[in-house]
Amino acid sequence: MSEAYPITEHEYDVVVVGAGGAGLRATMGMAEAGLKTAAITKVFPTRSHTVAAQGGISASLGNMGKDSWQWHMFDTVKGSDWLGDQDAIEYMCREAPAAVLELEKFGMPFSRTEEGKIYQRAFGGMTTEFGEGPAAQRTCAAADRTGHAMLHTLYSQSLKHDTDFYIEYFALDLIMDENGACKGVLCLCLEDGTLHLFRAHMVVLATGGYGRAFFSCTSAHTCSGDGGGMVLRAGLPLQDMEFIQFHPTGIYGAGCLITEGVRGEGGYLVNGEGERFMERYAPSAKDLASRDVVSRSMTIEIREGRGVGPRKDHIYLHLDHLDQKMIEERLPGISESARIFAGVDVTKEPIPVIPTVHYNMGGVPTNFNAEVVDLKDGNPDAVVPGLMAVGEAACVSVHGANRLGSNSLIDLVVFGRAAAIRAKEIVKPGTAHSALPDDACDEALARLDRFRYADGTKSTAEIRDNMQRVMQDDCAVFRTGETLQQGVEKINEVEKQMADIKTTDRSLIWNSDLIETLELDNLISQAVVSMTAAENRKESRGAHAREDFPDRDDKNWMKHTLTYHSTDGGVKLDYRPVHEYTLTDEIEYIKPKARVY
Ligand code: SIN
Repeated sequence: MSEAYPITEHEYDVVVVGAGGAGLRATMGMAEAGLKTAAITKVFPTRSHTVAAQGGISASLGNMGKDSWQWHMFDTVKGSDWLGDQDAIEYMCREAPAAVLELEKFGMPFSRTEEGKIYQRAFGGMTTEFGEGPAAQRTCAAADRTGHAMLHTLYSQSLKHDTDFYIEYFALDLIMDENGACKGVLCLCLEDGTLHLFRAHMVVLATGGYGRAFFSCTSAHTCSGDGGGMVLRAGLPLQDMEFIQFHPTGIYGAGCLITEGVRGEGGYLVNGEGERFMERYAPSAKDLASRDVVSRSMTIEIREGRGVGPRKDHIYLHLDHLDQKMIEERLPGISESARIFAGVDVTKEPIPVIPTVHYNMGGVPTNFNAEVVDLKDGNPDAVVPGLMAVGEAACVSVHGANRLGSNSLIDLVVFGRAAAIRAKEIVKPGTAHSALPDDACDEALARLDRFRYADGTKSTAEIRDNMQRVMQDDCAVFRTGETLQQGVEKINEVEKQMADIKTTDRSLIWNSDLIETLELDNLISQAVVSMTAAENRKESRGAHAREDFPDRDDKNWMKHTLTYHSTDGGVKLDYRPVHEYTLTDEIEYIKPKARVY
């Protein structure tokens, strides 16, 4: 280390890293439970990526037709292609209606039905009667700005309780003790460059996904998976990283999201021959099949020469046949995005769209109490003391191999609340913190110092671009053994370039060069484990579509992949069993069957 770094120490009962939907719901609940709580976030809370969620939040309220949490659970298990843990899925679907009504009570401005109930729209893969009935209208919406409305609601609620917000603080690394327990997190204040050690009996990672490992994604630039990066550096695994969701309707060229709610309101996809091709791929659900199915169908249409545009490399999404008043009321946000980013008036022309990276099903493995788990002494569910993860950063696993649209926002609030309930049970307010060894932060500081003074030949932007292109090309909608093997080699080569990185700004004050480099370091380790896990899984399941192994193989592969990343490169693989049981006898284990829509 070329410099001594003074560190300010803070003591809390709990520290939540990240202030999107999951982080804010956890923060609010923890503070409400009387725990001294700090919320640390690299962006202002209402700028967190949850703000970009559009179409809605799922819950079987039954406002627009008969519904039940058991049907929601069936759809989620089927959507997950039987990789989801059914105890966790039961927990989420059962708690969902109460979680949405709680948001309503907090003042969230939902759209309304004529009778004043929360408006619910259809979304992909959401059905009735255990998949045998018509589409369910289960997705509760605030026009097409549901995440925006939710984030502002939760932020105002968090402020109501006694929480200390540390805004524009960047989390560098978890501080673990010799027994593998988490003792706090070391952070850098972006504004003044000071270092802060937050001691906590529970650190909650609510840091979001790592969509920016890809070239074209709907994720904000801030989605660099900082929690996942810290977890890998702490020697802990990430789970099911091979499962990456492509949203069918990202704007062609720009990548911005066009909500699935468009198809929920009656929009449809058309190929270069003017055909509504989804009828061929999913005769029953059509454009409202699950996202993996729709993205694959679009990709096949393009590959077989039936795309639209001069290069026949995208698809049209039509809503120009829909009622203009409905579009104004329910879809104002995407109308604006289409105008700005595609130059399209949605009432007159179709939107050019293409499957775009949208969500990471994989993440930090947890149980349904949000506690991080790892393999230990033959126990696949051993809890890592002092550490929780929630939201897209976590893999509970409720989404398994493929997430259904609108199951993300509900995951955020249900498991954010679950984290608070569990923390209240296990953390006694005001408990003294054990002493840490003098060198507890040395490794984290050495990493910071290494990147701050990095003097190689490659810029952060160059290496990031290399990573994003490899991931986009080789960890794609369709995968083969050959492309994945090449992908593993190429992404390992990109990772080696990190040793030759160059940063130019040596200061610590608002050093975006340094922060982007630290973010890239978080991204690259997750890119490496994702590609490795994808190469390793020799079957097709959910979003992982292998052309050389086109079938799901429950006998050999109905298991979660764990990936450990060593600091000198290299990935160790292991497995955890899928939870093939429910929480209560109000629903039976949903047995695997063929997944057709
Ligand atoms: C959308 O509105 O299509 C995105 C919301 C989600 O991913 O659940």
